[in-house]
Amino acid sequence: MNVEMLMTAAYIVAALMFIMSLAGLSKHETSRGGLAFGIVGMVLALVATVASLVLNLLGTPQVLIGLGLLVVVILIGAGIGLWRARVVAMTGMPELIALLHSFVGLAAVLVGWNGALASEDVPANLLGIHHAEVFIGVFIGAVTFTGSIVAFLKLSARISSRPLMLPGKNALNIGALVVFVGLTAWYVITPDLWLLIAVTALALLLGWHLVASIGGGDMPVVVSMLNSYSGWAAAAAGFLLNNDLLIVTGALVGSSGAYLSYIMCRAMNRSFISVIAGGFGIEKPAAAGEEETGEIQEMDAASVAEMLSAADSVIITPGYGMAVAQAQYPVAELASQLMTKGVKVRFGIHPVAGRLPGHMNVLLAEAKVPYDIVLELDEINDDFASTSVVLVIGANDTCNPAAAEDPNSPIAGMPVLHVWEASNVIVFKRSMSSGYAGVQNPLFFRENAHMLFGDAKERVEDILKAL
Ligand code: TAP
Repeated sequence: MNVEMLMTAAYIVAALMFIMSLAGLSKHETSRGGLAFGIVGMVLALVATVASLVLNLLGTPQVLIGLGLLVVVILIGAGIGLWRARVVAMTGMPELIALLHSFVGLAAVLVGWNGALASEDVPANLLGIHHAEVFIGVFIGAVTFTGSIVAFLKLSARISSRPLMLPGKNALNIGALVVFVGLTAWYVITPDLWLLIAVTALALLLGWHLVASIGGGDMPVVVSMLNSYSGWAAAAAGFLLNNDLLIVTGALVGSSGAYLSYIMCRAMNRSFISVIAGGFGIEKPAAAGEEETGEIQEMDAASVAEMLSAADSVIITPGYGMAVAQAQYPVAELASQLMTKGVKVRFGIHPVAGRLPGHMNVLLAEAKVPYDIVLELDEINDDFASTSVVLVIGANDTCNPAAAEDPNSPIAGMPVLHVWEASNVIVFKRSMSSGYAGVQNPLFFRENAHMLFGDAKERVEDILKAL
């Protein structure tokens, strides 16, 4: 068996492992196995690629320089990656992921530019296809690059999460796509460098504009959409580098990211086309200051403990604040103590609670909450009306009745947990500030709602002491 065949075999096995990884990651119970398949597949792919590079250079003077450079960049990259992954807080994951997507985009741009500058080796009959690959790769990569940077800035609150509303924004996006198609045809016929510079600039601006136009409430979809774009950018780079595994892996990431975006859009009752087109058709959000006010009722931890002891059934709806406070351990302990007292306890999880898909599920699994009492929005929404007490722990937008009741709300139509239908609702938060979407929450002013102010972890621990 020659080297080429060995490498092809390794690539096929790695591609199968990636498919099994995706299959494993689609369920809680099998997700660890899914991760293991992904890691093994990636190690195999890296070893095969590096080995083939070394074998190709063997006997040439470049072998030592090539290998040395590769080892240095892998060590630097792996060192930084390991350090960031170890220190990042769970709440910082979405912005880290957005930043990592920007690297894939940038890599695709660089690979595309390299392909353009080194096109003299391409056989004449394939030149047209090569130019098209370069152009499309650079375009997708540059859109992903700036789009991901804007997502990073929004998710890390370095810039406002409000949507940018440029006049004629839809016309701008569609215009940019039309210009791209025209420039691609032009470049295939006459591959002038200025055309490549023009498409790079156009795509950088388009990526920035697409994501800047999307409001805070739709950011979950943007994260998965950029995941998808980064996959297509990697696949485009795979065509240019003639690397089959990169094409397969890119297509897997691209299509699974697109499907995740579709699922998220359905969960948030948003139009898929609208979000991928950069907020196409989204009306201007209500101006800040149109905030609902009213009387709120406060409760202390001891009274909440009393109410919980007398309850038949309790639903806990966690949100981003539980992640910030790292309250999952005392929350799990509270659930377990209440169940020991004979109270029926369940968790209601909104698909976009927190800041990344599955955020709450990961935290609750970490605190060893049994899977069978953790229910999705669709599974639990009809049960709030027959529930004695709902504990809203650091959740806000995902429990906002305005989404269901106020057609003018910026989050109108987004399915929410109907917590207000329960007999009593206790809201754990530190202040009266709004959630991620920047929208006031009328839940806090309802007659059956009580506020328990303070850090969620401290307040749950207070309740545990009082129980
Ligand atoms: P949010 O609406 O973001 O509200 C979180 C609440 O937690 C805030 O009102 C905050 O109020 C409170 N909080 C923060 N730190 C706290 C602490 N230490 N102790 C107690 N409370 C604390 O949360 P949500 O209901 O989970 O909704 C998620 C939002 O993020 C949605 O708008 C969603 O679209 C968006 N988003 C989601 C994702 C994904 S994929 N899940 C990605 C990006 C954006 P105080 O400041 O008053 O304490």
